[in-house]
Amino acid sequence: MNIQENISILPLNTFRMNGRARFLAVYESTDELRYILQHKAELFGNKNIPVLCIGEGSNLLFTKDFEGVLLRSSMRRARAVRETADEVFIEADAGLCMDDLIAQLTDMQLYGLENLSYIPGTVGASAVQNVGAYGVEAKDVIDQVRVLNIQDLNEITLSQADCRFGYRDSCFKHGQGKKYIVSAVTYRLSKQPVYHLEYGQLSQQLPSQPTANQIRQAVIRIRQSKLPDVHKVGSAGSFFKNPVVSKDVYNNLSHSYIDIPSYSVGDGSEYKIPAAWLIEKSGCKSFAVGDATVWQPQPLVLVNQHNAEPQDIVQLAQMIVNRVNRQFGIELQREVIYI
Ligand code: EPU
Repeated sequence: MNIQENISILPLNTFRMNGRARFLAVYESTDELRYILQHKAELFGNKNIPVLCIGEGSNLLFTKDFEGVLLRSSMRRARAVRETADEVFIEADAGLCMDDLIAQLTDMQLYGLENLSYIPGTVGASAVQNVGAYGVEAKDVIDQVRVLNIQDLNEITLSQADCRFGYRDSCFKHGQGKKYIVSAVTYRLSKQPVYHLEYGQLSQQLPSQPTANQIRQAVIRIRQSKLPDVHKVGSAGSFFKNPVVSKDVYNNLSHSYIDIPSYSVGDGSEYKIPAAWLIEKSGCKSFAVGDATVWQPQPLVLVNQHNAEPQDIVQLAQMIVNRVNRQFGIELQREVIYI
């Protein structure tokens, strides 16, 4: 275990916000995590100090210094735990980089996660956030999730249904679910191709029977063309969720805006509207506050061009929410979590 005090948060968040955290505790095993949580008084001088488990810090915005303990797993292994004629079950540690896992899986010709290639973040975050891209969500392949309860320090296994996954949502983001820290995720991968190539330009870039690795490379190319490189420009991916509206709301909007893009969701009674379109159509693409700007190829993404302050991002996001609401009567919800 490694504990540091008064550390810079700059390397711990992809938005590249500057600032400080009171402590950073990196643990190498679930027992170490238990020890840290059990001994907060001795280790940090305060048994009630707040704790926050982070992965790669790719979906959060530190709005101020963090006066608590940032917890980070350095467990990064993955292993096959079960195999059937058609499937392999891979259990991966929460601290493993999701894209490193997907690279290994595509090399092994295992299908299921390739559409999620190149998304920043860890295995643990894939469950908390139910990450998704190109017609696939993590929940589609998650079999079970192992978690540590930070109150009673017991480790338990939750089934896929227990996790109550939704669009960029899970039980881990609400109420009692917040007491869990994910320690490992088991994914159910297919030995035979299971294609999800209907989304956008994906199929146009591929042969008719692509390998998992060809799909991975196509997804990486598309993402690189639209999204900022987190190693070069500060961002946290999509800043807002795509709003889901009722059929009535959608019908009203489509009378006024005949070009409004949409996807029918669920049983067809609701529609998902791309937030990028709402942001562009309401004229927010040129909005900026200090160094906080809108990413031109994909305006759903807000970026820190150089030295944006957290409040610049907060203010820019609020300006966009207000403008979209005024024009369309839709209140955009944040995907990024404010700390
Ligand atoms: N669009 C515009 N103007 C633009 C760019 C896009 O109007 O300048 C509209 C277009 O109509 C386009 C639509 O936005 O068809 C959708 O764009 P895109 O396919 O890039 O995807 P998205 O719906 O904006 C979602 C996810 C992404 C994921 C992509 C691909 C959310 C919040 N975002 O974005 O996830 O990569 O689909 O599946 O659901 C993330 O969560 O961080 C993320 C990047």
